[in-house]
Amino acid sequence: MCGIIGLIASKSSPNNIEALVLGLKRMEYRGYDSAGIAFMAGNQIKTVRSKGKIASLEDKLGQSLESTKLGIGHTRWATHGDPSEINAHPHTVGKISIVHNGIIENYQELKQELIELGCEFSSETDSEVVAQLINYYYQQSDLDFVGAVRQALTRLKGAYGLAIIAEDQPDQLIVARQASPLLIGLSDHATYIASDPMAIISYTDRIIYLEDKEYAVLGAGSYQVYDFDHNLRDVTPETIELDPGQIQKSGYDHFLIKEIMEQPEAVINVLRGRIDKQNFSSHLGGLNLPDDYFRKIDRILIVACGTAYYAGLLGKYLLEKMLNIPVDVEMASEFRYRDPATSKNTLGVVYSQSGETADSLASLREMKRRGMLTLGIINTAGSTIAREVDGGIYLHAGPEISVASTKAFSSMSIATLLLGLEIGRYRQLSIERSMEVIQALGSLANDIEGVLSLDQEIKLLASKIAKFGHMMYLGRDSLYPIAIEGSHKLKEVSYIQAEAYPAGEMKHGANALLGDDLLVVFFLSNNFLYDKAKSNLAEVKARTSNILVVTDSEEQDLARGTIDVIRVKRVSDWTQGLIFNVVSQLIAYYVAVDLGRDVDQPRNLAKSVTVE
Ligand code: AGP
Ligand code: GLU
Repeated sequence: MCGIIGLIASKSSPNNIEALVLGLKRMEYRGYDSAGIAFMAGNQIKTVRSKGKIASLEDKLGQSLESTKLGIGHTRWATHGDPSEINAHPHTVGKISIVHNGIIENYQELKQELIELGCEFSSETDSEVVAQLINYYYQQSDLDFVGAVRQALTRLKGAYGLAIIAEDQPDQLIVARQASPLLIGLSDHATYIASDPMAIISYTDRIIYLEDKEYAVLGAGSYQVYDFDHNLRDVTPETIELDPGQIQKSGYDHFLIKEIMEQPEAVINVLRGRIDKQNFSSHLGGLNLPDDYFRKIDRILIVACGTAYYAGLLGKYLLEKMLNIPVDVEMASEFRYRDPATSKNTLGVVYSQSGETADSLASLREMKRRGMLTLGIINTAGSTIAREVDGGIYLHAGPEISVASTKAFSSMSIATLLLGLEIGRYRQLSIERSMEVIQALGSLANDIEGVLSLDQEIKLLASKIAKFGHMMYLGRDSLYPIAIEGSHKLKEVSYIQAEAYPAGEMKHGANALLGDDLLVVFFLSNNFLYDKAKSNLAEVKARTSNILVVTDSEEQDLARGTIDVIRVKRVSDWTQGLIFNVVSQLIAYYVAVDLGRDVDQPRNLAKSVTVE
């Protein structure tokens, strides 16, 4: 689920070990608990692994690196077995060494079978069965290395990205993919493999993405890609555009604050060339849907996970107002296994920053199986979801490194409005309303810039907020999804327990929680619901003064009975959610810093969740 790197080079060099370690570092942002590499040292495989950060792996490797032509590396996000050195990858068994991302679902029966055949296991992982199985087949005299891997692949169930080397085959590196990303990078000096293009962009931008149920046999300067029926696939490498500079902190303490601060630029990038003022609409070149279909859509179904799901919830509020089409939003992990009602004219939309989230991908496939047309609102170009949807909108937000998603949320919401503008022109969306949306989008980069200038004010408040053990985010209308996303962000990075409710719903139960250790963050917009929301605020004030009000109202009296008020600019209702959301992001960031948390890689989380 976390990171795979590997290479096979034409010349032996310590630089190749350095490249493996650099690749692992480039994937650190994904979150992991242990790391390791295995490489050919002379005519033997040497495996070096360590628990914790890559820095401790580097300590073990020492100052003077060995020379190699062939190696694989891994950052592990434990699914089966503790995060310990013994469970860290690569798993080396006999002549075989492997790294694995994903989960082998039938590992218990395979393990049992292998134990009965005399194999001795040394880890608690599901992954070790892959190494044991290949090694077992390889010992059978009639199978060569490729044959042994092929044989093993027929036995595996579940999700895997695999990279495999054999001690007596120093000129071959084998990779395989089933439901977990894997790509090949080509350069003049070496062939690279990785689960994330970030790992190898310093060396090459010529990439081949492996599809599900494919494996590849690689040499230095050669590649053959096969499907699981052993047909050779005719592949053309693509050139990807990724700038290694984008994955530096550029003077910020953390990627999280850098990415929060990058939002004005992200707004400009997602909008670039996409507003069609003359036709009160948007230009979206990648939708690939017939015009007539836009008139037929009878429902929009958004499926996503985590923050992308909350962007979808905000999308529901926005799109229903624009289009008067029912919009449902569902968590992908639920959608994929229940029996959801869909129709042929339900437009399926998957939101995903990474484009690799396993549950979102499975839901997309389920929607396609049902004959639905699908769109993706995706940040990562070339990702699996981006390749499998019928059409979509790329966010162009640049790499998002921090595990907690921030700029992708804003860009997803803008893409939603662009989608609404496009579909709306085939439906009943009035020109007046379209213009409102277009104007709101036009000033959004500046508006976000404005709210980011509250940075120091929020930093000063952080220690006051961090004293609370629990937080409750409240909002109404489009500020309700923003309240949920605010609470999600806070819990992810600060580990403070947080909930969110529609402000009008508190009296039906959650009021009982109001007490000394709970802080309420109340999002109050001076919009059509201002008076109603103020009454809800009064109801909370009657029970506690642990309240932080975030508002675009200038009314001074609001401060009475609160710990503080954060004032933001009043903008259009179409984009106000994003303004309040930036306040939430800054709160989460500074509270996490105040509490000394691992801001960019919060405990127990991974950036790209490629297991279900
Ligand atoms: C966001 O802060 C989280 N780390 C997580 O909820 C994330 O949004 C979710 O896993 C979905 O990821 P995706 O956008 O890459 O599909
Ligand atoms: N399931 C494997 C393990 O727990 C691989 C985890 C990963 O993808 O990092 O070791």
